[in-house]
Amino acid sequence: MVKPQTIVATGGAGFIGSNWLNLMVPRHPECEFINVDCLTYAGNLESLEAISGLPNYHFERADIRDRVALTKVWKQYQPDSVVHFAAESHVDRSISGPTEFVETNVMGTLNLLELFRTETAESNRYRFHHISTDEVYGSLGETGMFTEETRYDPSSAYSASKAASDHLVRAYSRTYGLPVTITNCSNNYGPRQFPEKLMPLMILNALEGKPLPIYGKGENIRDWLYVEDHCEAIWLVFEKGASGETYNIGGNAERKNIDIVHAIIGAVAEATGMDNSKIEGQITYVKDRPGHDFRYAIDASKVRAELGWEPTESFESGLAKTVKWYLENPKWVDSVRSGEYRQWIDQNYAQR
Ligand code: NAD
Ligand code: DAU
Repeated sequence: MVKPQTIVATGGAGFIGSNWLNLMVPRHPECEFINVDCLTYAGNLESLEAISGLPNYHFERADIRDRVALTKVWKQYQPDSVVHFAAESHVDRSISGPTEFVETNVMGTLNLLELFRTETAESNRYRFHHISTDEVYGSLGETGMFTEETRYDPSSAYSASKAASDHLVRAYSRTYGLPVTITNCSNNYGPRQFPEKLMPLMILNALEGKPLPIYGKGENIRDWLYVEDHCEAIWLVFEKGASGETYNIGGNAERKNIDIVHAIIGAVAEATGMDNSKIEGQITYVKDRPGHDFRYAIDASKVRAELGWEPTESFESGLAKTVKWYLENPKWVDSVRSGEYRQWIDQNYAQR
């Protein structure tokens, strides 16, 4: 592939997108980065304060469901490459309201593929990179790992919509010869994650003396990856991955949810001097998530062997950094906890 110069990064105001832009914009002054984000509840420009004045960073508020708005972005910037983060990303929200998930994750991806196919000059020399999830593979039992060959078997409207978007991206490679890559990653954690997800929700509730709601028995297992390790993998695959290929990305850090919560309590107590056993008393078992996948585990040997990627952050050091970030950024926390946030928390946890 020819070196990218003008990159549309969708969803750059969200958790992973903003971490990626914060790392890549200063590191790659030879590239222009256009953050295309419509700023849903999950998108926050405060996550991008550190780079917003840099000359190679541009923000365009646009909805990927709106092809006319995307066409304007393409006409203005003539991007050669796309890194596609934008999505509705929270499984519980997809249970209570699946429609937006299909509209953004499926139709939004289709719109971007169409723009790339029809409006990017010499698109075959550049790259469309699609960020996806290990949830497309469904649920594992006690053993086994997801490889790139694992059959798709999604359980939620979120994972079904991501599976559909993956299929579209691959279809555009096979039918139109577009140079696409896909990464399917495990659970990310780190700074700037919206506090609807397990890690930031538990950190903030622990600090604030609120209940720590564990779905079911807390025995479900996820594989945790520090977000900056994921960001490095995305750049590597974007730049050097083989066209048409999929790469699984994982942290090699499987944990039961209940153990994650104990670890968060320990890290919060350590960072603040709060009483560990008092926070333990905040643990509350609540009604399980419908269709709750039991276990995810990633076999990342392909990206390791072909591109040399390995996670660098240990789970313990990544967790300590994450807790520290939430303690040091109360302004960010306040700004994302809008009325809409409080409404979601009331609705989701009142029913459990
Ligand atoms: P997020 O919910 O934090 O952020 C999503 C971003 O997309 C927000 O800035 C939001 O405003 C934007 N967005 C949503 N709908 C849009 C639309 N219609 N038009 C334009 N922008 C829109 O999500 P995240 O956790 O950063 O996830 C980013 C990507 O990574 C997603 O595709 C997700 O499926 C994938 N992923 C996430 C994880 C994880 O653990 N968080 C793991 C693997 C893969
Ligand atoms: O595996 C990758 C996926 O990880 C991404 O594709 C998704 O975008 C991302 O949201 C995440 O999905 P999960 O459903 O695994 O993440 P979540 O943080 O919502 O939940 C993690 C686990 O914790 C899951 O087993 C459900 C449980 N949980 C979650 C919440 C919010 C609880 O027990 N209590 C809670 O309050």
